[in-house]
Amino acid sequence: MLGKHDSSRSGKRFWETLGLSKVPDMSSDDRPIPQRMPIVGVAEAGEYTWCACGRSANQPYCDGSHKNSGYLPLRVVVKSDRKVAWCACKRTGTPPFCDGSHAKLPPDAPSGPPRLKSIRLDD
Ligand code: FES
Repeated sequence: MLGKHDSSRSGKRFWETLGLSKVPDMSSDDRPIPQRMPIVGVAEAGEYTWCACGRSANQPYCDGSHKNSGYLPLRVVVKSDRKVAWCACKRTGTPPFCDGSHAKLPPDAPSGPPRLKSIRLDD
């Protein structure tokens, strides 16, 4: 079902789909928050690359700005036209789709225009 990340099909945990070897420490997640609400619309059938790093100027899609961020875009195949809610806060547990995590963001979470700062991932 589109809108729900089905990790059982890929056999990967959600952070592995983002190119990470382990779950990032969300308490120190300083990725930019492009938007505190999902980007809702009709996605036409096709292939998309969802920005996971928060730096893209073409949200919710990757524009290549993730270089040296520690994040990779997530490739998504939409098989038929359908309404979707792309996560724009980059904190969803069901990437690339919104799971409501934006409502739990602390007020001091980094936001605004994408920053050229690398994310720190603990070993
Ligand atoms: S994943 Fe954010 S610009 Fe590529």
